[in-house]
Amino acid sequence: MARKRRTGVLRPASGWLTLRVMSLLEVGRTHTCGELRREHAGASVVLFGWVHRRRDLGARIFVQLRDRDGITQLDFAAELGEEAYKLGDSLRSEDCIAIRGKVADRGTNANTDMVTGEIEIKVSEVEVFSKSQTPPFVIADDDRTGATENLRLQYRYLDLRRPVMQRNFRVRSQIGYYTRKLLTEGGFYELETPAMVKYTPGGARNFLVPSRIHPGQFYALAESPQIYKQLFMVSGFDKYFQITRCFRDEDLRNDRQPEFTQIDVEMSFATPERIFEPMTALMRTLWKEILDVELAETFPRMSWDEAMARYGSDKPDVRFGLELQAVTEHVRDSGFKVFDGAECVSGLCVPADKAGSLSRGAIDKLTEFVKQRESGGAKGLAWTRIGEDGSWSGAVGKNVKPEAQKAVAEAMGAGPGCVLLFIADAWETTHTVLCNLRLKLRDQLDLLAGNDKPWQFLWITDFPMFEKNEAGQFVAAHHPFTSPHDEHVDLLVSDPGAVRAKAYDLVLNGNEIGGGSIRIHNSDVQAKVFTALGLSDEEAQFKFGFLLEAFKYGPPPHGGIALGLDRVAMLMTGAESLRDVIAFPKTQRGQDLMTGAPTIADEPQLADLYLTHRDIPVKDNS
Ligand code: AMO
Ligand code: AMP
Repeated sequence: MARKRRTGVLRPASGWLTLRVMSLLEVGRTHTCGELRREHAGASVVLFGWVHRRRDLGARIFVQLRDRDGITQLDFAAELGEEAYKLGDSLRSEDCIAIRGKVADRGTNANTDMVTGEIEIKVSEVEVFSKSQTPPFVIADDDRTGATENLRLQYRYLDLRRPVMQRNFRVRSQIGYYTRKLLTEGGFYELETPAMVKYTPGGARNFLVPSRIHPGQFYALAESPQIYKQLFMVSGFDKYFQITRCFRDEDLRNDRQPEFTQIDVEMSFATPERIFEPMTALMRTLWKEILDVELAETFPRMSWDEAMARYGSDKPDVRFGLELQAVTEHVRDSGFKVFDGAECVSGLCVPADKAGSLSRGAIDKLTEFVKQRESGGAKGLAWTRIGEDGSWSGAVGKNVKPEAQKAVAEAMGAGPGCVLLFIADAWETTHTVLCNLRLKLRDQLDLLAGNDKPWQFLWITDFPMFEKNEAGQFVAAHHPFTSPHDEHVDLLVSDPGAVRAKAYDLVLNGNEIGGGSIRIHNSDVQAKVFTALGLSDEEAQFKFGFLLEAFKYGPPPHGGIALGLDRVAMLMTGAESLRDVIAFPKTQRGQDLMTGAPTIADEPQLADLYLTHRDIPVKDNS
């Protein structure tokens, strides 16, 4: 009698053969599924992986075997091994298997779309580690899964099997590796800071963690290691970094998650230059090692004031032109009621070779766009098309006096065929709206076509120290330990809005990928900043007393930065959302669709924490 083993090899049930058949698992794999090439032809190999696709041609069965490194074609045929063929016939998508076989050169039949397309494996032995149910969607790149993102998030472990995700997470892992290597070799200590910290109001909204041991008291989850890394400088650690999780209870977007990861850095005796230098080196290393792209040795710099004036944004996409043009002075008495008396009139000049597709209907749609709240809420969009003879069309052409038209055209570099788009409003609204309109036109008019510098890094420097909140009070634009420019210290009290800080952001292609500052280490300056923020001594003590106390013991001048690792990974992989580079992300509604978090805590749990339910507003969870 013959007994079938898992390997598919026929052998007697008992008696004379005492040799144990080795499972292919014990044999071990010889190669990954992305490794084999023509030069391996003839070799006997063992591969492990998942059944990606299966094609049944009757006498032969072709299976694509997938692991994280690639896909290899397997050829099952009865003449290669009867048992293997039978098992091959029973394989279904996502079964987890091992195979043994010989590498064969596909010669002129090579599949040039596959990295391993020069070869296939003639299979002689199969071992099925585990069978798979039919997965809820096809494990495929891009939209060929036929699944909504929510379904993919529910079965995230299957979603992560998709080759594109495997590549994304390989990049993410490499970012961590090269960051640790470069910064450690550069003399930075990798140090950890607590995630459960003291709650301090202001800044991002914190998640709170109730204390069981201290009824009614709470920790906050750290929104960043900011204060701790400054204390490391007081401790004399000189150069610190940490790849660390941060928690912020914010409204979520494609580039924001409630849990995200920072490459957090702090240096003693720092100037902005001394921070830019290792950060630039880090970006250069990541791009070179991971993408084989050579970045410039230094990144251009632009002050916040200039960025706002030219792009209406503190994270400008400088890969294309279409810069904002201020024309307030030229249209002060233009004769057009929309412009006259407006605080700020600025515009965009769409060049003649791009303006052709801006039909009347298209401009009406842009008008709707600029009026939306998310676009900045403009009152309207004034526009004109310049004719071959230099004449201006429409209401703007009819109303704006010829001398003003001439001055505006000159200021905007406009000529025949151009379309001019204007916003008249308060300074901030005008700039916000034009920034959004500029980005909309980038996509609509394909303004990045032909761009030969795909990675445009930029340091934005000299941010305002304060910004006004909705109630009109000054709040710290970065955080209250950010150092003002030395020559602006006197303005802290007399004209806070004019104070510029030693604060900087790193911007890539219109995305903020990092931000930091030189910190205050002088208690007089710190006191003035607290005053400008309307913080009393008691409030400052209550919020930051431990830091202020530490600063009494010889703090070194210091500064730092934090890079958003997820955003860097998103841009490096070309992903459209942070969710594609975070293994188990939350949805825009803050939910983990796989585990169902957040969930309701039951009464005994709440009792342990001295918490009780209040009435929960009915939520639409659709
Ligand atoms: P900041 O708040 O600017 O600075 O954060 C630094 C960088 O972190 C990334 N980031 C995020 N990424 C994903 N989801 C989020 N919700 C999110 N919020 C921020 C961004 C940002 O540039 N302690 C200071 C740094 C310092 O001063 O040294 C800080 O946290 O890429
Ligand atoms: P109205 O006279 O209000 O119909 O506006 C004339 C044109 O000016 C329309 O194209 C409006 O979209 C535009 N417009 C109105 N208000 C503004 C504004 N504040 N800034 C720019 N354009 C505006």
